[in-house]
Amino acid sequence: MTLAATRSGALVGIEGLPVDVEADIGSGLPAFNIVGLPDASVQEARERVRAAIRNTGFEFPLRRITVNLAPADVRKEGPLYDLAIAVAVLVASGQVTDRFSDTALFGELSLDGSLRHIPGVLPFVAMCAARGIGSVVVPVEDVAEARSVGGVRVHGLDSLRQVGEPFESWPETPLPEPSEAGGVILEAHDLATVQGQEHVKRAMEVAAAGGHNLLMQGPPGSGKTLLARALPGLLAPLTPAESIEVAKVYSVAGLLNRDRPLMRERPFRSPHHTISHAGLVGGGSHIRPGEVSLAHRGVLFLDEFPEFGATALEALREPLESGSVTISRARGSVTFPARMLLVAAMNPCPCGYYGDSVRACTCPEATVTRYQRRVSGPLLDRIDLFIDVPRVEYKELTGEATGESSEAVRARVVEARERQAARFRGTSTVANAEMGPLDVRKHCQQQLEPAAQPLLAAAMQQLGLSARSFHRVLKVARTIADLAGSDPILTPHLAEAVQYRRRGAE
Ligand SMILES: Nc1ncnc2c1ncn2[C@@H]1O[C@H](COP(=O)(O)OP(=O)(O)O)[C@@H](O)[C@H]1O
Ligand SMILES: [Mg+2]
Ligand SMILES: [Zn+2]
Repeated sequence: MTLAATRSGALVGIEGLPVDVEADIGSGLPAFNIVGLPDASVQEARERVRAAIRNTGFEFPLRRITVNLAPADVRKEGPLYDLAIAVAVLVASGQVTDRFSDTALFGELSLDGSLRHIPGVLPFVAMCAARGIGSVVVPVEDVAEARSVGGVRVHGLDSLRQVGEPFESWPETPLPEPSEAGGVILEAHDLATVQGQEHVKRAMEVAAAGGHNLLMQGPPGSGKTLLARALPGLLAPLTPAESIEVAKVYSVAGLLNRDRPLMRERPFRSPHHTISHAGLVGGGSHIRPGEVSLAHRGVLFLDEFPEFGATALEALREPLESGSVTISRARGSVTFPARMLLVAAMNPCPCGYYGDSVRACTCPEATVTRYQRRVSGPLLDRIDLFIDVPRVEYKELTGEATGESSEAVRARVVEARERQAARFRGTSTVANAEMGPLDVRKHCQQQLEPAAQPLLAAAMQQLGLSARSFHRVLKVARTIADLAGSDPILTPHLAEAVQYRRRGAE
């Protein structure tokens, strides 16, 4: 045989696409070429494949070798094709029997022929499962990740040497023990660990129930970070499909926990305000998902919100509006999912103590105003709940009383979400926060009890609510009514919603 083909794949966003690796060995001067839109990192495979073949007891054919990666219009990058290329060369040169027609091969080779971890194993295996490919070969390190998909036989190899041996003699790879820490929420992040702050906890319940983004404002040490950290645990547990979706993002980013590849907790990401644009929304020379995608189906926490640059905040608009980010490059664009709840936190002023009951603020009034104004513009349109987080009194901090557990709050959130699922069935809307103007009219304005109309009119006038905050208040009121199990929006629901507007001019 002088021609052979093996199967592999390319990553597009968080999905795998099949790629066939063909090797032809022809006569002519010794050469080794790779064609089919490989980038520079794939070209480097030639050196690794050559050395790996020699160093595992095989012979590297001194002939004219052409490797084609098909289809040619799919962009290919990274060292993941090493294994598929090496096996194709070994089969084409008659050194290994061809039994790979129903097997996809993924892995980077070291010069000594050992197989190395590659990012993206999970999407690749999911691709094989969806396309009826029976088995995969992956580096032994990636076996747990590959097996988490199910439906495909997984072989973990540590060396290229083993491809010459029959499948049956390949070592069984034991899976790591499932870790105990894989529950829905860790105890340290339970709402019950936060003393007092009942009104903030309530706002978080509303945020979780309706998918409303939240901005917390308060002095240092008032518990903003502690509270934000509890938010993922107030959301319904990930469904199996969501869990795979999230794990795909982490796999592509190379951040999956290899011993515990199944993501069972909702993600919580808290990037520092100095983060780069690519770090926040994705990008880089090998496009990787950014923090907004790593927070997919979970919570993105932006602490010290005004410190994030204007460009960073601007970049958040697309994911907040569409639930995804598209990164455009010269050679095509890539889309990553980014459907998350945003929680922002800020001090009220640069020194942190403006309006505090104990410490005096040392900032000039103009500085405070300027600081507050830094958070403005279209991004604010995407934040439905504004909440003050004051310092907790000593009495409360040391008191015996413990509040509700996350589990109790989560039960109410799940019920409210079920009401929304029924309401929006057959549409692309999932939660109240996503309602457009027509939805607001139908599900909020027309559902408002007549007795609540005067309150709405008064709020509009006396608080000077703009049209956008008018809609926001109604959406939040819808969620509060859902939490109460009520179809009509009653006066107390609206009254509570009015309290979550931003103080001062909007
Ligand atoms: N309400 C609270 N209940 C229990 N501990 C609190 C509370 N608020 C603050 N703390 C304690 O103070 C520390 C600092 O809180 P943190 O959430 O970081 O405040 P902030 O983010 O507002 O500056 C927490 O780690 C926690 O130990
Ligand atoms: Mg903090
Ligand atoms: Zn101050």
